[in-house]
Amino acid sequence: MIDERRVPIDRDVDIVTARQLGRELAAEAGFTGSDLTLIATAISEVARNIVVYAERGEIRLGRTDRNGREGIEVVAADEGPGIPDIQQAMQDGFSTGRSLGLGLPGARRLMDEFEIVSEVGKGTVVTMRKWRP
Ligand SMILES: Nc1ncnc2c1ncn2[C@@H]1O[C@H](COP(=O)(O)OP(=O)(O)OP(=O)(O)O)[C@@H](O)[C@H]1O
Ligand SMILES: [Mg+2]
Repeated sequence: MIDERRVPIDRDVDIVTARQLGRELAAEAGFTGSDLTLIATAISEVARNIVVYAERGEIRLGRTDRNGREGIEVVAADEGPGIPDIQQAMQDGFSTGRSLGLGLPGARRLMDEFEIVSEVGKGTVVTMRKWRP
């Protein structure tokens, strides 16, 4: 990641900070228009999951490139309870929090790349990338 920035997440207002910083970095990386909103929305969802399920963690944001293609990388990391069944968590409508269960599958659709590594009792790391058109 290039020019990595870190946003500690432990309460609702931090979600807004991460969302705004992500939008700014995406604009600096050359994204425009609705892409800025899509990226900001995906960041909000993973940041909100940290607050709700893990209580605290951090969002790391930065530019990235691969084979000459530029993009933005977002990592949401926590040391919370972990996700026992990632396939299930990625399904539309699955929620252990009596919520809509659309955050993770929605973020996956908004970004180009989406990976979750999670271990019960250890924590969760979600890595997302979006490439500039
Ligand atoms: N960081 C995390 N740590 C532990 N469990 C998580 C984490 N993020 C997601 N989960 C689990 O995955 C489920 C699905 O997450 P997702 O964001 O898709 O839905 P939700 O948060 O339940 O609802 P919504 O995001 O629509 O309000 C959650 O209900 C929770 O069980
Ligand atoms: Mg969620």
